Amino acid sequence: MGILLNNAPYDNDPWVHYLNQYLPDIPVFVYPDVPDVKAVKYAATWDHPAGDFERYPNLRAILHLGAGMDLIDAQPTLPDVPIVRLVDPEVGLDMAQFALYWTLHFQRNFEQYRTLARDSRWDRLDYINSKRYNVAVVGLGLIGTQIAQTIASNRFKVLGWSRRSQILEGVTNLNGEDGLKRALEHADVVINCLPLNDNTHHFFDSEKLAWLKQGANIINISRGGVFDDTALIDGLNNGRIGAAALDVFAVEPLPEDHVYWQMPNVFVTPHMSGATYARSACRTLADNIERLEAGEDPFPIYIPKSKQS
Ligand code: GLV
Repeated sequence: MGILLNNAPYDNDPWVHYLNQYLPDIPVFVYPDVPDVKAVKYAATWDHPAGDFERYPNLRAILHLGAGMDLIDAQPTLPDVPIVRLVDPEVGLDMAQFALYWTLHFQRNFEQYRTLARDSRWDRLDYINSKRYNVAVVGLGLIGTQIAQTIASNRFKVLGWSRRSQILEGVTNLNGEDGLKRALEHADVVINCLPLNDNTHHFFDSEKLAWLKQGANIINISRGGVFDDTALIDGLNNGRIGAAALDVFAVEPLPEDHVYWQMPNVFVTPHMSGATYARSACRTLADNIERLEAGEDPFPIYIPKSKQS
């Protein structure tokens, strides 16, 4: 038996290294170099070519190399095996720190200081105290919850919005359309943590972005497709949106000629807010493979869109 590995477009080498270290008895085949399709029992993949999973008659599970499952849902067909998300606690912490960094950046006017410093200007700027600075965290799944709690524990005022009613301590919990409107109308910063699926594609469209108060800032760390880019660019150009820290994009890598690279109020980072670490992620993968080998359930199991009732 063996593991099919495909982390493209990212580097496979560290994954091979740690899988060999944690599971020394299981060979790792780096896609597309698979000498015997019958030997593949587990697939550890990210953006895998459509239809390829069907080639492995003994496949027992797909271990997705990410927490967001939109690439799995984009597969036209999937074999009937368990599909497992990669939920690495170290990644959630990194994403929460990324969100906190940008929240502080916007709250304490760091960008304006950079501009002032270029003219050697020693000016102190007013800012809103964190206890009165409203941060809307939209989407309270595993990662959104960790982010909302991290921001709240740094004494910001957190408005947490989720589709279903949810109670997080230290957070004003909102849901439904009215709740979302309230969160957006008050937010100084909006942090998008929604997964991308049929319900959330272009969730932030021109109508919802118009609910924002003038000059609100955006942090997007989940998926680019949750925003309608045309509406976001309009908002950034007409001043409704003060600035945006964008780590994720509808097309990645962000094309070289994309307008976001040049916009002065957009901060582009290359999908690194919660980049998976091979060392800790392979530990999680190895634990799940050991569970499967022992006849136990891996977790967390994901039910793909095509099989959700
Ligand atoms: C990264 O974007 C992930 O889904 O884990």
